[in-house]
Amino acid sequence: MSQELAGKVAVITGGASGIGKATVELFVAEGARVVIADVDSEKGEALARSLGDAARFKRTNVTSAEDLEALVAFADSTFGALDVMYNNAGISSAPYLRFVDDELKDFQKIMEVNVLGAARSSTPRPWAAHCRAGAWCPTAPPRRR
Ligand SMILES: NC(=O)c1ccc[n+]([C@@H]2O[C@H](COP(=O)([O-])OP(=O)(O)OC[C@H]3O[C@@H](n4cnc5c(N)ncnc54)[C@H](O)[C@@H]3O)[C@@H](O)[C@H]2O)c1
Repeated sequence: MSQELAGKVAVITGGASGIGKATVELFVAEGARVVIADVDSEKGEALARSLGDAARFKRTNVTSAEDLEALVAFADSTFGALDVMYNNAGISSAPYLRFVDDELKDFQKIMEVNVLGAARSSTPRPWAAHCRAGAWCPTAPPRRR
């Protein structure tokens, strides 16, 4: 690995399994420090433990603005900065093969996590006070540190 992310701090939502987990491991291998943000505490804690000081777990539900604000503050207080927000958390609609068979609440749940969850994670409010100058912080003005 070329340590391409040395010195960077990343938050990865849905980082406890699947693509998110693989991304957490890759970011750490590339030198980043990572906050794993997920609703699955068991898997998230286990992954963080396996990666040592470079990773921490913070239970986060991306449908909650309060959770997201606490997550960003946690990343800042734990690692002293925030450079990358990876909005990966998502749920599948695979059990609902035909839209007409879905109940509206199922569709709303998917939108709440996959669409609004990513939008909430990228809004200036949780980011503005914590982003490092020059960092990749979607839609938020960076703050000089
Ligand atoms: N795997 C694929 O082929 C594929 C294809 C297209 C898009 N995607 C998208 O990529 C992302 C990752 O997919 P995956 O296959 O690794 O899924 P996965 O189910 O293995 O992992 C998703 C993670 O998100 C977490 N999560 C679910 N709801 C959450 C919430 N409200 N708040 C925080 N965390 C939550 C889960 O606990 C899980 O750890 C998802 O957004 C998925 O929709 C996946």
